[in-house]
Amino acid sequence: MDTSVSILILAAGLGTRMKSRKAKVLHSAGGLTLIEHVTGTALKLAPAERITIVVGRQAEQVRAALGDHRVRFVEQTEQRGTGHAVQVCRNAAASEGSLLVLYGDVPLLSAGTLERLVEVRRQNGAAASVLTATLADPHGYGRIVRDAGGNVRAIVEQKAATPEQLMIREINSGIYCFDAALMWERIGDIRPDNPAREYYLTDIVEVFHRGGLLVAPLLHDDPRELLGINTKVELAAVDRIFRERTVERLMLAGVTIQKPETVTIDATVSIGADTVIEPFARILGATTIGEECRIGACSIVRNSEVGDRAVVHPFTIVDDSELAPESQAGPYARLRMGSSLGPRARAGNFVEMKKARLGAGSKSLHLAYLGDAVVGDEVNVGAGAITCNYDGQHKHETRVGDGAFIGSNATLVAPVEVGRGSYIGAGSVVTENVPEDALAVARARQENKPGWAGRRRVAPKP
Ligand code: UD1
Ligand code: CA
Repeated sequence: MDTSVSILILAAGLGTRMKSRKAKVLHSAGGLTLIEHVTGTALKLAPAERITIVVGRQAEQVRAALGDHRVRFVEQTEQRGTGHAVQVCRNAAASEGSLLVLYGDVPLLSAGTLERLVEVRRQNGAAASVLTATLADPHGYGRIVRDAGGNVRAIVEQKAATPEQLMIREINSGIYCFDAALMWERIGDIRPDNPAREYYLTDIVEVFHRGGLLVAPLLHDDPRELLGINTKVELAAVDRIFRERTVERLMLAGVTIQKPETVTIDATVSIGADTVIEPFARILGATTIGEECRIGACSIVRNSEVGDRAVVHPFTIVDDSELAPESQAGPYARLRMGSSLGPRARAGNFVEMKKARLGAGSKSLHLAYLGDAVVGDEVNVGAGAITCNYDGQHKHETRVGDGAFIGSNATLVAPVEVGRGSYIGAGSVVTENVPEDALAVARARQENKPGWAGRRRVAPKP
């Protein structure tokens, strides 16, 4: 007997009720697409080559979302129902052993629950086991009709249910474990005899029942885990649950999260102990934050690395950038496209950095734009200084050596190099390289005209 587990994930539908151009399983909750969540869970139970995903609507995008996972894909070109979706996998999926069927729009499911489902089928010697839950509001779900022995006799879809069946609050999660051989033997018996003319996978339960085969239920005590997504209202509800799980995991790992209900942290983020996350922070994508950091209120940190004890002050946006240990950004700073702050460096109020680096201990504390710039260590960039990196056609680089001092409101016209230890006078427009240890002043000399104002005041009106 083959005791291995294979998995089929149904993800071909458009999800009409989402009212979206995008296929349902490509919508995100908790920072990952629905299909990534379900596939991630599947991968905890079976190796990639035993996982088959049925794709149809926007098949290419669904494949792309799963990137380098080496799962198999089968195309269901016409979406004729969940039963049909399984049928098209006959040649690709396992023909023996346990076959788990998962729906791509039920993303909160855990691997542990699936293991129990596999066990329930084995222990009962059943043809299938079905994961069920009791919901206060079962509307929209298939209802579980049990027989006298407590096994599942049928699953009745909302649209086909009688008034009595609609009173049943035990629902079908859409997650099943089949004896693969028996399933393939009987799947052809499903008929599209419903108003939608679809092949319902759920009808296989009655087929089994008629054939004297057993379908065992596994009634799950946490119905939240089995929530399916058909509308954007349900998507938001599931997103909230993912966020709650993430902040809980982080808090238990030692992260301080103030007003956790207000922050948005993706499942892909890692944060070290004793870091403080202030209210309304958003920490997204592949972001790693070290220990004892502070992420200020209303900041956004995306696909970035933040070293130990670094501070992102409130209202700061950090995108695809790197903050070394003990560096600080903000408040109201914006770092983007591969910018970096060296150890103890600071980019302050209204400072924008694009593909720019501030070396160790360097500071740009007020109102600056640093684009395509490499600034060395211990440099002071005065208030309002900017790099002119774009000539209308091309981008050019600015390089500033260690220990230089860039006066306030200096304009560095790239390509240009400011030597180590040099000074740039405030308000200068620097178009030529500045040698080491020099002072560059590039502005009109000041002229004072004594008594000019008094003469103007007494001058007769024309
Ligand atoms: C389904 C179940 C219902 C259960 C609910 C749980 C059926 C007939 N009904 O209803 O009993 O309570 O899920 O969430 O199975 N899909 C395909 N190809 C198709 C049709 C659907 O791949 O031709 C995929 C969809 O992409 C989706 C999944 O199957 O991921 C479920 O389809 P959906 O239309 O959402 O089924 P429900 O009406 O929610
Ligand atoms: Ca659904």
